[in-house]
Amino acid sequence: MADEAVYGEVAALHAAAIDQGFLSELGPRFLTLLYEAIDRSPASILIVDVEAGRLRGFVSGGTGLGPVYRHLLKRFPALIGALWPVLFSPRKLRRIAEVLLHTGKQAPADLPAAELYSIAVSPDFRGQGVAERLYAALRAAFAERGIAEFMIVVGDALAPAQAFYRKMGAEPAARIQVHGDAGSVLFVDRDRRKISPP
Ligand SMILES: CC(C)(COP(=O)(O)OP(=O)(O)OC[C@H]1O[C@@H](n2cnc3c(N)ncnc32)[C@H](O)[C@@H]1OP(=O)(O)O)[C@@H](O)C(=O)NCCC(=O)NCCS
Repeated sequence: MADEAVYGEVAALHAAAIDQGFLSELGPRFLTLLYEAIDRSPASILIVDVEAGRLRGFVSGGTGLGPVYRHLLKRFPALIGALWPVLFSPRKLRRIAEVLLHTGKQAPADLPAAELYSIAVSPDFRGQGVAERLYAALRAAFAERGIAEFMIVVGDALAPAQAFYRKMGAEPAARIQVHGDAGSVLFVDRDRRKISPP
C-alpha cells in the first residue's frame, strides 16, 4: 500500500494530466480520497513510480468500483468536505449521478470485468518508458489475481494515450458514450499467450 502523502500527489498529477476527464472537475481533495480508496480496496490496484521522493507516474485499475465507493463512504465527513463546492453545481451533481448509475450500460456485452482506470506520467518524465513499465506492472498485478484481460476507456480527445495503448498491444473493441457528450474508444488488452503459445 502506498504512503499516505502520495495520494495527494497522484490526485494532483491526475488533475493536471487528465484534465479533459470529468473526475478532475471534482477537485484535488476528492481525487485524493478516491485514490486512497482505490489503493485500500481489495478489488482495485494503485501502482506508483516514485524516484528520489518525486512521483513520476501512476496507474490504477480494478474489477469494479463498488468496494471503492463503499470505502469512500467510510470517509463520509472528509468526502462531504471535498465535494462541498460541487454540491452547489447541479451540472456536476447530474454527471456524478450519471457516472454512478450508468457506467458501462452502453458498453457491449462480453467485456472483461477488469479495467485500467487511469494512467499518467509527469510531463518531466514522459518519453522514457515510465508508462510502459507501469502498464506492464498493472498487467502483472492482474495476472497474479488470475485476470488475463482488461479494458480501457479512452476519450476521443486523448490521441496520445490511444497511441500508447495500441503500442502496448491493446486493441480497440468498441465506441461508447460515457457521459452523454463525450465519445470514447474502448480498448481491450488480452493475454495473447493464451491464444497463440510461443
Ligand atoms: C500517455 C502517457 C501515460 C504516456 O507516458 P510515457 O511515460 O511518456 O510513455 P512511454 O515513454 O512509456 O511510451 C511508451 C510508448 O507509447 C507510445 N507513446 C507514448 N506517448 C505517446 C505520444 N504522446 N504520442 C504517440 N505515442 C506515444 C510510444 O510508442 C512509446 O514507445 P517509444 O518510446 O518506443 O516510441 C503520458 O503521455 C500521459 O501521462 N498523458 C496524459 C495522461 C493521459 O492521457 N492518460 C491516459 C488517460 S487515462
